[in-house]
Amino acid sequence: MNPVKVGLLGLGTVGGGTFKVLTRNAEEIARRAGRGIRITHAAAKGLDPDTLPGVEDIEVTEDAFAVVDNPDVDIVIELIGGYSPAKELVLKAIENGKHVVTANKALIALHGDEIFAAAQDKGVIVAFEAAVAGGIPIIKSIREGLAANQIQWAAGIINGTGNFILSEMRDKGRDFDDVLAEAQALGYAEADPTFDVEGIDAAHKLTIIGSIAFGIPLQFEKTYTEGISKITGSDVVYANELGYRIKHLGITRKTERGIEMRVHPTLIPEKRLLANVDGVMNAVMVMGDAVGPTLYYGAGAGSEPTASAVVADVVDVVRAMTIDPENRVPHLAFQPSELSDLPILDMEEVETSYYLRMQVEDVPGVLAHVSGILGDAGISIEAMQQKESVEGATHVPLIMLTHKVMERQMNRAIEKIEALDSTSGEVTRIRMEQLEA
Ligand code: HSE
Repeated sequence: MNPVKVGLLGLGTVGGGTFKVLTRNAEEIARRAGRGIRITHAAAKGLDPDTLPGVEDIEVTEDAFAVVDNPDVDIVIELIGGYSPAKELVLKAIENGKHVVTANKALIALHGDEIFAAAQDKGVIVAFEAAVAGGIPIIKSIREGLAANQIQWAAGIINGTGNFILSEMRDKGRDFDDVLAEAQALGYAEADPTFDVEGIDAAHKLTIIGSIAFGIPLQFEKTYTEGISKITGSDVVYANELGYRIKHLGITRKTERGIEMRVHPTLIPEKRLLANVDGVMNAVMVMGDAVGPTLYYGAGAGSEPTASAVVADVVDVVRAMTIDPENRVPHLAFQPSELSDLPILDMEEVETSYYLRMQVEDVPGVLAHVSGILGDAGISIEAMQQKESVEGATHVPLIMLTHKVMERQMNRAIEKIEALDSTSGEVTRIRMEQLEA
């Protein structure tokens, strides 16, 4: 049988890795797919062919639309990233009857519903394993491996750059900007690194996880997003002293009132496996009613780890090409007609526990004021620590851990604490999760 012909859009970090993996492992991959898979066309701007041995054997153009419109190409791999022209290219490839593999989480999170509807009309596949958690096969695991379960929640470290920054700050006391520059040099960070540090990249990925876990449409705009740029070295130290680690988590949970979708720094007990996932590694914990807790760990970014997921998708597409479209695995795990309209909860409606840090005057009665406000709001205190005062300072740090409460109650209580004469500045609030089985 003739090899399947692939058109590759983008020969950067992931595109270059995909080219190398598909070339190096061609024989094994063909044995798995049942057919050879050959990159015949690619689109890249300003490519230096010396950096990618073998690339001289394929047709490289600067015009990505020429690849998408080429009748010889069976599968288009989109690795350009961003919204435009990636969206137009993917829709054009679908219109031309080509299957698509993409690593573009932003594109899927924002425009996935439209893209999947177009793909369904045309009977083609859009595969996106590499869009979430790099080389970890988390999409396949939830969509296929856990298909028997009612998923209860999923929580994960799904941005390698952010995890690398937090790990280096904690272990080596390194400076935020210095670690970010290293992540950029290593090719982990997004083109716009605020997507990493402000949680947008993680929110793209969580939107996709929530959708395939619970069978809901992709709703990126409703995902609560908070980054790590306000985390201070002292919060990292205080959390450690209390037996917790601060991780930037994406959390989605099904509750009786709706679905939680939230990305924010989170205190988790140091003994949890997730708390010990460091550097650029990613990990996602998924709780199913039948299977219980499961954990998926691996490289969340980087050239060949991400290429691993891209190429696995290409193999899946080749295997499924001969299957009737209606018998293929649905894009979002549930049949398109069976998606649910469960609401996404506003962050104020989410219940969680909290780490609070505030600067209080070191005088009698302050603790009573603060705990009085918390008590009036129905917030129960689990632990409290007052740090020693520094010579000459009028205020001292007060750390509190609370039991679970609705975020709305906590917001009101924080407003009142900040208004006290005996406190100074803003209250730092970091949400806390036990992630119990
Ligand atoms: N910037 C992303 C990260 C790349 O750091 O995780 C992988 O999606």
